[in-house]
Amino acid sequence: MKIFKIIIKEDCLEDAILASQQTPEFETAYPKSEYNKRLKDVKHLILTAYISNKPIGFKIGYETLTKKNFYSWMGGVLPKYRKLRIAEKLMEYQEQWAIKAGFLRILVKTRNKHKAMIHLLQKNNFIQIGIIPHSPNEETRIIYEKKLPQ
Ligand SMILES: CC(C)(COP(=O)(O)OP(=O)(O)OC[C@H]1O[C@@H](n2cnc3c(N)ncnc32)[C@H](O)[C@@H]1OP(=O)(O)O)[C@@H](O)C(=O)NCCC(=O)NCCS
Repeated sequence: MKIFKIIIKEDCLEDAILASQQTPEFETAYPKSEYNKRLKDVKHLILTAYISNKPIGFKIGYETLTKKNFYSWMGGVLPKYRKLRIAEKLMEYQEQWAIKAGFLRILVKTRNKHKAMIHLLQKNNFIQIGIIPHSPNEETRIIYEKKLPQ
C-alpha cells in the first residue's frame, strides 16, 4: 500500500479553490468572488490538504452572524485521494481550531445526494437538526450540528 504524507495548511485560498474545481460533485464551482464575499470581515478558516505539494482537499468555514457558531461551508477531496481519512483530518483540524476560537458549535448544511459526507458527519458525532425539502429529493438540504466543549 502506498503511504501518502498529508500536509494541512491554513489561508491558501487559491489552492483551496483549485481543489474545489477538481471535486466533480460541485458541478459549478464557486468563483473566487463568492469566497471573498463570504469571508470578508468575518472570522474564518481556510484549510487545504496537500500531498506532494498538490492541493487535494479543502475545507472552508466562517462564523455565523451571532458569532457564536462556526458554519462549515464547503469541503471536498479529489476522487483519487478519497478514503484516506483526509476529510476526517480536515474536520479534526477545523474542530480543534473552532474550540480554541471559542465557538459553541459547528454547523454543516449538506445535500441528500452527498452520501459520503452524511456518513462522515454521522461517524464524527454530528447530529441532524433540520431538513429543507427540495425537489428532486437528492437536492434536499440536511443541517447538522456538533456542540463543542467549552
Ligand atoms: C465527503 C468527502 C469529503 C469524504 O472525503 P474522504 O477524504 O474520502 O473521507 P475520509 O476518508 O476522511 O472518510 C471518513 C469517513 O467518512 C465516511 N465516508 C467517506 N467516504 C464514504 C463513502 N464513499 N461511502 C460511505 N461513507 C464514506 C466514512 O464514515 C469514513 O470513515 P470509515 O472509512 O471509517 O468508514 C468526499 O467524499 C468528497 O469530497 N465528496 C464530494 C464533495 C462533498 O460531498 N462535499 C461535502 C458537501 S457538503
